[in-house]
Amino acid sequence: TDIRISADLIRRRKGGTPIVCLTAYTYPFARLLDEHVDLLLVGDSVAMVLHGHQTTLGASLEMMIAHGQAVMRGSARACVVVDLPAGTYEDSAAQAVASARRVVDETGCQAVKLEGGVDMARQIAAIVAAGIAVMGHIGLLPQSVEKDGGYKIKGRTEENVAALVRDALAVEEAGAFSVVIEGTVETVAADITHRIAIPTIGIGASRDCDGQILVIDDMVGLTVDRVPKFVKEYADLRSVISHAAASYASEVRSRAFPGLGHVFSATNRRDDA
Ligand code: KIV
Ligand code: NA
Repeated sequence: TDIRISADLIRRRKGGTPIVCLTAYTYPFARLLDEHVDLLLVGDSVAMVLHGHQTTLGASLEMMIAHGQAVMRGSARACVVVDLPAGTYEDSAAQAVASARRVVDETGCQAVKLEGGVDMARQIAAIVAAGIAVMGHIGLLPQSVEKDGGYKIKGRTEENVAALVRDALAVEEAGAFSVVIEGTVETVAADITHRIAIPTIGIGASRDCDGQILVIDDMVGLTVDRVPKFVKEYADLRSVISHAAASYASEVRSRAFPGLGHVFSATNRRDDA
């Protein structure tokens, strides 16, 4: 059955109905999101969101593969993209190809994503030449926040705008099927979207991008810390979970739970779990 959306199909949706993307890190979320989105990204944000690291530098190839496998088990339809974590592709094209190949072989995902423009064009081209689809990622690069001195919106100066445009063109030229643009002045992301032939996927970027992506935990209100301005919370799962835990704690302490319906009798075998 070939119902899964390929990277090439995503590429051909340039300029059409906006491409819907979310991150997913686990089997249950993949099961829930798969029917609603075009693309699921197993982002290295998993290191922060699920593992509690301060930055995405806490992600390893093994971590990405484990979560990639979980998401592939839960999804049948979406194009699944797995991030290459920091330290697994920057040194050389050969290192990048080896990491990308391992991720694809061990997860069965449709594509990999890596951060960088002009400086990573050789890596992107080499992975594409090896037959693996690549999604680019330019603008605010979370893997570089330590050396950039924090999360800073890009495209506020002339030089910065020119560098972003060069990065976008380099990623396109290297053969990426699409590119994430993160944390830029809106007009810059809009301009790039109109100048390149591959779809742009925005996050804190532009309403004109060819698609949008958010971190799933942010958009369902599971993120405990402050969320960035570009996040819209579509649900408040923090309070749903907190209320459930409070009710459970109170019922255990008062012996209201477990009730008769949650235990097994010696005589009635029909109610066995
Ligand atoms: O890791 C991630 O979640 C990402 C998206 C925010 C684009 O790279
Ligand atoms: Na990422």
